Amino acid sequence: MLVVMSGDATQADAREIVALVESAGGEAFVSRGGNRTVVGLVGEAERLDAIGLHRMRGVERVARTSERYRLVSRVPGTDRSVVEVAGVPIGPGTVTLIAGPCAVETPEQTLEAARLARAAGAGLLRGGAYKPRTSPYAFQGLGERGLRILADVREETGLPVVTEVLSVCDVETVAGYADMLQIGTRNMQNFPLLQAVGEAGRPVLLKRGMHATVEEWLMAAEYIAQRGNLDIVLCERGIRTFETATRNTLDISAVPVVQRLSQLPVIVDPSHSAGRRDLVVPLSRAAVAAGADGVIADLHPRPEAALCDGPQALSGEDVPELARAIGDAARLMGRRTP
Ligand code: E4P
Ligand code: PEP
Repeated sequence: MLVVMSGDATQADAREIVALVESAGGEAFVSRGGNRTVVGLVGEAERLDAIGLHRMRGVERVARTSERYRLVSRVPGTDRSVVEVAGVPIGPGTVTLIAGPCAVETPEQTLEAARLARAAGAGLLRGGAYKPRTSPYAFQGLGERGLRILADVREETGLPVVTEVLSVCDVETVAGYADMLQIGTRNMQNFPLLQAVGEAGRPVLLKRGMHATVEEWLMAAEYIAQRGNLDIVLCERGIRTFETATRNTLDISAVPVVQRLSQLPVIVDPSHSAGRRDLVVPLSRAAVAAGADGVIADLHPRPEAALCDGPQALSGEDVPELARAIGDAARLMGRRTP
């Protein structure tokens, strides 16, 4: 069961619900997002029904959920959520572009990429300081030095920063610099990491595991929500299939599927899906047309010299086409670009 709290509900109201549910032998988990608080209940449905939760102060509605995830589920008749990242909305009504280099390499490269991102209409800057690489000999990222570069570039350009955290022991450090924490495809089922970002006090971008089903992805989001954080944005980034023409296969159907199942915003990463620069703009259009709440794309001032994922990075030359594609598709869908 799931309790959706009203906009004016207080923390004390949620605490009273937890106490009542516990006194009936159940468990209750409060999860807060910028525009919604929900309480997920575990226990015998009949006993929970009998305690009259719908009469409690601050309760908007009590819903039965048949899914294994509950905090992130979509309660019929309620709107999907908007997640705000340092004032930039991601959710229904808008198409938010997140762009920047795959990896932070130097202050100059990051600043140039951020300026390109802004020219493309991006509301947020992406860039990895901790890189999950297949080979231990490949560039692993600059670590905290990279985070400092991102913070300086944010200062210079005004673009809030989205960056990946790879391990539980780095969560506090990364959260100290980033506006949004990214969990990458390889860590989608790193449960202690999901729990740690659930407690870090920052919005989370949760990429889909390359081998994960939609249900596994939503259960991963539930881990974050269960630790109190409902400010989660899902990112479809392609899955492994038999097809080799692209690096991964963009599962475009995941966008409307997830929007029916979950209240969380969902965006698309055409760069890691395709692994090819020439497909990034067409897949961005497809993503927005399918209803995605945003796009995250790799941009590099000199992709041929990039230390990570150069073949999928757009360059300055591609910026006008990307900006046009996102703007046109957003208008077609009746959405604005923040
Ligand atoms: C990029 O962001 C990832 O680190 C990259 O896709 C890893 O892939 P690779 O190490 O196999 O090149
Ligand atoms: C990234 O966006 O930098 C990244 C590593 O992506 P993914 O986890 O989707 O491969």
